[in-house]
Amino acid sequence: MNSIRRMTTLFRTEYHGEGLDPDDFSNDPVEQFGKWMEDALLRKVMEPNAVHLATADASGKPSGRIVLLRDFSQRGFTFFTSYGSRKGDELQQNKHAAMTFFWNELYRQVRIGGKVSKLPAEESDAYFRSRPRESQISAVASRQSRFLESRELLERAAYEIEEKFRDKPVPRPENWGGYCLEPEYFEFWQGRERRLHDRVVYSRRGDSPGWTIRLLYP
Ligand SMILES: Cc1cc2nc3c(=O)[nH]c(=O)nc-3n(C[C@H](O)[C@H](O)[C@H](O)COP(=O)(O)O)c2cc1C
Repeated sequence: MNSIRRMTTLFRTEYHGEGLDPDDFSNDPVEQFGKWMEDALLRKVMEPNAVHLATADASGKPSGRIVLLRDFSQRGFTFFTSYGSRKGDELQQNKHAAMTFFWNELYRQVRIGGKVSKLPAEESDAYFRSRPRESQISAVASRQSRFLESRELLERAAYEIEEKFRDKPVPRPENWGGYCLEPEYFEFWQGRERRLHDRVVYSRRGDSPGWTIRLLYP
């Protein structure tokens, strides 16, 4: 047996999550997400707000990475990053993005798709001010996703910024701030026994405000 096959045999997990009844689901997917996030917090899932964010450039070439969800509401799902990063470049070219949460302890996955826009500058300022000072300094020092000649350059830049703003507030760099993904699609996935998993999908009904709720084959 080759090693990959051995690994998948060893790690084959049975999912014993409780079944989903779509009738128990909220008509509002944001509210439903809130319930599942609460469950994840109660079950002490590690970093329940860590989320995979997929973006793509203008040609459709995708890229993914983990970011931390900072807030969610009817407006959308927000995260903070450098506008000059690879994801920033891609969102500039193509505002469609997808988020995937994985809460292993609950055998649950949530997928959210939609369009992303920048948060208003005042909201980014307010969040930046609330961050620990080292995080503020690192946001100023980092030219996120650009090539770095040596680790030393980064450490020196951080040291210089620390000196420059000694006893003063660190201002938010213009190219750092928040994004909000306005959802158009949700999928709630619950792992179940015998691989007969549940999938509940919410999609928009044309331009009308409500959501259509449907099941998908696993
Ligand atoms: C648990 C975790 C949380 C992260 N949170 C963030 C975040 O909130 N914002 C961010 O810009 N990068 C975050 N990162 C780093 C990103 O995954 C990524 O390396 C960085 O944003 C550059 O991505 P890009 O080159 O695709 O733009 C996090 C990484 C991990 C593993």
